[in-house]
Amino acid sequence: MLDTIISGGTVHTAGASFVGDIAIQGETIVSVGAPGSFARSATPGTRTIDARGMDVIPGCIDVHVHLALPFCGTVSCDDFDSGSRAAACGCVTSLIDFAIPGPGQSLADAHNDWMSKAAGRSFVDFSWHMATTKREHLHEIPACIERGLPTFKQFMIYESEGWNADDAMMFEALELCRAHRGMMLVHAESPRVLDLLIRRFHTPELMRTFGAKLHPITRPNFIEAEAIERCIHWSAVTGGRLYVVHMSTGEGADLIAAAHARGVPVLAETCAQYLCLDDRVFDGPEGHLFACCPQVKKQSDIDRLWQGVQRGEVCIVSTDTCSFTREQKGMWRQGDGPNSFGDWTKIPMGLPGLDTLVPLVYSLGVRQGRISINRLVDLCATTPARVMGLNRKGNIAPGFDADLAIIDPARTEEVDWRNLQSRCDWSPYQGMRLGGFAHTTLARGRVLVSNHRFVADAPHGRLVERRLQPD
Ligand code: URP
Ligand code: ZN
Ligand code: ZN
Repeated sequence: MLDTIISGGTVHTAGASFVGDIAIQGETIVSVGAPGSFARSATPGTRTIDARGMDVIPGCIDVHVHLALPFCGTVSCDDFDSGSRAAACGCVTSLIDFAIPGPGQSLADAHNDWMSKAAGRSFVDFSWHMATTKREHLHEIPACIERGLPTFKQFMIYESEGWNADDAMMFEALELCRAHRGMMLVHAESPRVLDLLIRRFHTPELMRTFGAKLHPITRPNFIEAEAIERCIHWSAVTGGRLYVVHMSTGEGADLIAAAHARGVPVLAETCAQYLCLDDRVFDGPEGHLFACCPQVKKQSDIDRLWQGVQRGEVCIVSTDTCSFTREQKGMWRQGDGPNSFGDWTKIPMGLPGLDTLVPLVYSLGVRQGRISINRLVDLCATTPARVMGLNRKGNIAPGFDADLAIIDPARTEEVDWRNLQSRCDWSPYQGMRLGGFAHTTLARGRVLVSNHRFVADAPHGRLVERRLQPD
């Protein structure tokens, strides 16, 4: 007895494209075959989704989101309800957020806190990277790996949040990851020089003159490059698996290429914003809205990162979703008289993006001829699943979860934040004309989006145990 047949679509995996049918029983893909193969297995209760003329891809995985994150004196405005709706409308069916311990908390406490944010609220499956922000968290690494949480985040910055790790912690975390089959994720920005540059420019006169442009001015590319270089070094000498999050510079891609050339298997993700926005966004009166860490860079970095996507130095594209409304972003204003100015160090840092990840990669990548749709599947579904240990996700084959997205290749939409699921009252991509939004999304066999409308009435997302595969 089949529950669902997706019939006649062009099925795309990371390795192949073919016209075919997909048979689903319960939450699982049970068979994939030529068009019409399952007609005799259908019963009156079988739902058939006509995908003729459409692209069918595995549900994508955003491995880098921050939903309802207490950060920069406020809380990011998308939570697991709005975030998972946005995900589904943008072809994403699994999320990995970051469980970041509060003051005095253990990793186990942080896990409980993040579970209470997602359980019963998320429409898509989820997991956590555990943020090891204090030396005493390191001894919990083996137990986390044992319970299916094998990835650990270290921030090189954010001392004011109490999140920053030092080199010795990175070194030890990498040793533990090597010993217990875990992986260390790093936010790579060089903290001491960054602090110095921020101090130099942090005067009322300069803030009045340059406004939000001080954000890119105080974060030149070498801030990211030095940090990436340093953690690659620690990965090479410890043999611990390293994954660089939100890589934003051409220099970063060069360093990953150089590491690969000498046999260091470091992995790197970039985010959709670094593939399409440059730092001219800080020029206008709304420039502060675009502040995120690291910030978007120059056209030459965009070009080098796309090259990295093509060559494999970038293996995953994520969003780093950390949404703040206009009002929240407005926290940078100092005073309200004629002498008021904006202090860029007070802007809540982060961008919304879950609705638009796949549409941006589809439109700028596939439609503009930079990558094939198979490479999109690889970057947004298959490699995220493999690298992060989501071993039943990211592919269209028997035995995999029935997480699927169907895209109408003929459809283009103009991005307008009012039509997105995010709670954010602006979008960095406002006005862009994009394809690649979900016509239909299924998460473990349940229809979340149908005919471009979110239709699910109950959240069934659950925590997924992750196990990293051997090197
Ligand atoms: O600006 C950003 N990226 N906010 C979220 C926290 C982080 O560094 O990933
Ligand atoms: Zn970060
Ligand atoms: Zn992040």
